[in-house]
Amino acid sequence: MEFHVITLFPEMLSALDAGLIGRAQKRGVITVRAHNLRDHGLGNYRQVDDAPYGGGSGMVMRPEPLATAMDEVMARHPGLLRILMTPQGELLDQPLARELGGHQPGLLLVAGRYEGFDERVRSMVDREISIGDYVLSGGELAAMVVIEAVARLVPGVLGNPESLAEESFGTGGVLEYPQYTRPEEFRGMRVPEVLLGGDHAKIRAWREIEARRRTERRRPGLIRSRGKPAT
Ligand code: ADE
Repeated sequence: MEFHVITLFPEMLSALDAGLIGRAQKRGVITVRAHNLRDHGLGNYRQVDDAPYGGGSGMVMRPEPLATAMDEVMARHPGLLRILMTPQGELLDQPLARELGGHQPGLLLVAGRYEGFDERVRSMVDREISIGDYVLSGGELAAMVVIEAVARLVPGVLGNPESLAEESFGTGGVLEYPQYTRPEEFRGMRVPEVLLGGDHAKIRAWREIEARRRTERRRPGLIRSRGKPAT
């Protein structure tokens, strides 16, 4: 799967060269490419923004550099889903990450800076996505969050695909059950006895109850909206 990002700060994307996503890139399972919006800037100063019509503070991203940057990427990589990163977009969650993961050949994420985009940019994309109800000074981190959430669902990226089903939001839209590893006792806190016993039916039942209890306590809205506990 391909991930393309249009940005004024392509170097920020190098954070994705580390860890799981970096290894998946090296193995050729996914590709991540940054495209410098400045290359499409206007005039001698390669301008990409301007003052808002009607007045007001801050600068607005002009549509032409974004349009030519997007046209160029789309001409070379046809079929990408065009996504504008903006706090006004639909909220990213695990079902949306899954949906995006099914889009071939991949995604073109547009990261902005400044106060926002000229409204006409919205007509050039397929979707608008927000990673949360807060404002970042640029869309790069948001684009990287989308890439990280989607890429790990691509077959072959994770070493052990079973862990996908078990993690939070994995199957039933609930949080993951509590996990323990060695030592059996740490600073007076013991691993629950049931996990040490090797009775897999009992362990499964305990995990189901704990996942549900944890979700009810921390994120009751998840249970109300989706219902079933993880299995
Ligand atoms: N750009 C600025 N803030 C953002 C957010 N919360 N989500 C996506 N893109 C953004």
